[in-house]
Amino acid sequence: METIRIGIVGAGERGCYVLGSRIIEMAQELDLRITALCDINSQRITDATDYLTSQAKVHQLTWDHEIMGTTDYRAIIDNPQVNAVLITTHTDNHLEPTLYALASGKFVYLDKPISVTLDDAHRILDQEKATGNTLIMGFTRRYEGSWRKAYELLRSGEIGELQMMQIHSVIPYMRYYQMWHRVSAFSGGALNDKVSHLVDVFNWMNGASRCQSVVAMGGRSTFIPERTDAPFRCSECDDTSCPYRRKCQIDDDKEGTHVLERESWKHAKTIRDSADTCVYYPGADIIDHAIATYQYENGVKASLFWAIYGPHAHDQETLELVGSRGRIMVERETGQVRVMRILDGYQKEEAYTLEVQGEYFSSSHYGADIQLLKEIHASFHALSKGNPTADSSDGLESLRMIHATVESIEGDGKRVTL
Ligand SMILES: NC(=O)c1ccc[n+]([C@@H]2O[C@H](COP(=O)([O-])OP(=O)(O)OC[C@H]3O[C@@H](n4cnc5c(N)ncnc54)[C@H](O)[C@@H]3O)[C@@H](O)[C@H]2O)c1
Repeated sequence: METIRIGIVGAGERGCYVLGSRIIEMAQELDLRITALCDINSQRITDATDYLTSQAKVHQLTWDHEIMGTTDYRAIIDNPQVNAVLITTHTDNHLEPTLYALASGKFVYLDKPISVTLDDAHRILDQEKATGNTLIMGFTRRYEGSWRKAYELLRSGEIGELQMMQIHSVIPYMRYYQMWHRVSAFSGGALNDKVSHLVDVFNWMNGASRCQSVVAMGGRSTFIPERTDAPFRCSECDDTSCPYRRKCQIDDDKEGTHVLERESWKHAKTIRDSADTCVYYPGADIIDHAIATYQYENGVKASLFWAIYGPHAHDQETLELVGSRGRIMVERETGQVRVMRILDGYQKEEAYTLEVQGEYFSSSHYGADIQLLKEIHASFHALSKGNPTADSSDGLESLRMIHATVESIEGDGKRVTL
C-alpha cells in the first residue's frame, strides 16, 4: 500500500498541534507521514515544523525527509510528494485551497465548518461535481464512540421510531473571544464553529430527512461587554485575577495551550493570529448562547440548549434521543450511553447503561481524531471510498441550519424556513 504523504494547509492548532500530533502517534500503524506544511504566516511554518519534528523524535519515527514549508497552498498541492491534503485554515479561507485540492485529484480532507458563506459552500460542492473528486468533512462528533453507539442503537430500532432530539452543550469556551473566531467574518461566529457540529449530529441521527424550519433565541452575554480600555492581549495585561485570563481555561491543556509559547502566537499582532486576545477587547461580534428548535420534514423535532460559558461539569454536553419506544442519553464527557425502553406496550420498562469510552477516549475529541485518521486511511486506500462518514453535503446542510439559526436570533425568534 502506498504511504499516505500528507500536506497540511493551515499550520495552526487544529492542523498541526491536534491532528498533526495524532498523525505522528498513528504514523506507523497507518503508514502516514507529514511531508509538507503551508501557512500564510511563515512563522507558523517554522513553529509547526519544529513541533512536528520534535514529536516525530519522541515517537521514534525514522522520517528520512525534510518537511517542505510554503506560504502558497498551490505549491503544497502541486508537490508530487503530497498525495493527501488536509485543509485546516481559518474557516473563511477554506474555499480557495479546497477548490484547488479537489481539482488536483488528490485525496482531500476539509475541516468543519465547510465555510462562512453559503456561496462558498455551494462552490465547493460544484467543484466536486466538476472534478469528480470528493472530500471528507471533519465533523468529529461522528467519530466519537458514545455518539456512534447511540447512532447504532437508534438505527437498530432499540427505541422505535425517532421522534425528538435534544443537545445540551454548556462548555466554558472563552477561546472564542480570545481567538480569530470572535470575528464572524472569519469564522461565522461561535455558532458556526461549534454548533455546526451539533446540528450535524441532529442531521446524522435523523438520516435523510432535512431540516425545514428553525426558531431560535440567543445573543451575546451581558457579562463580557466591550471595554474601550481593554488591552489587546492577556500577555500585555497585569491583571492576574481576571477570570478569563488565557491559560486559566480548563480546556487549555487538552486543546493546546502550548501554542501560546510558540513564536507566532507569542508575538501575534493581529486578531487572526492572536490566541490570547482580551475577551473585553472591542470588535467581537459573535453570538455566545442560543436556544433553538429545528423542525424536520419527517416531523422529528430537535432542540438545542447551547452556551460557551458556564462552569466545567461532567454533563457539559449531552444528547438525548426520544423514540416511540424508548430513550437514549449520551453523556459526552463520561462516554456513558443510557438506554431506557418500553416493553410489552407499556407493561414493562428496561434500562441499561453502556460505558463506551473505547481505546482512545483520553485522546483529543474523546478519541474521535484517531478514528478520523483511520477513516482517512480506509478512504485513501479505497477501502471505504465514496462513503466518508461526513461529506460536503453534510457541511452545506449544517451551514444552512446555522445561517437560519442566526437569522431567527436576529429576527428575535421569528420562524425561518429553509
Ligand atoms: N473538527 C474539529 O473538531 C475542529 C477543531 C478545531 C478547529 N477546527 C477547524 O479547523 C480550522 C482551523 O482552526 P484552528 O483552531 O487550527 O485555527 P488556527 O488559527 O490555530 O490555525 C489556522 C491557520 O490557518 C492559517 N491560514 C489562514 N488562511 C490561510 C491560507 N489561505 N493558506 C494557508 N494558511 C492559512 C492561519 O495563519 C493559521 O495559522 C477552522 O476551520 C476550525 O473551525 C475543527
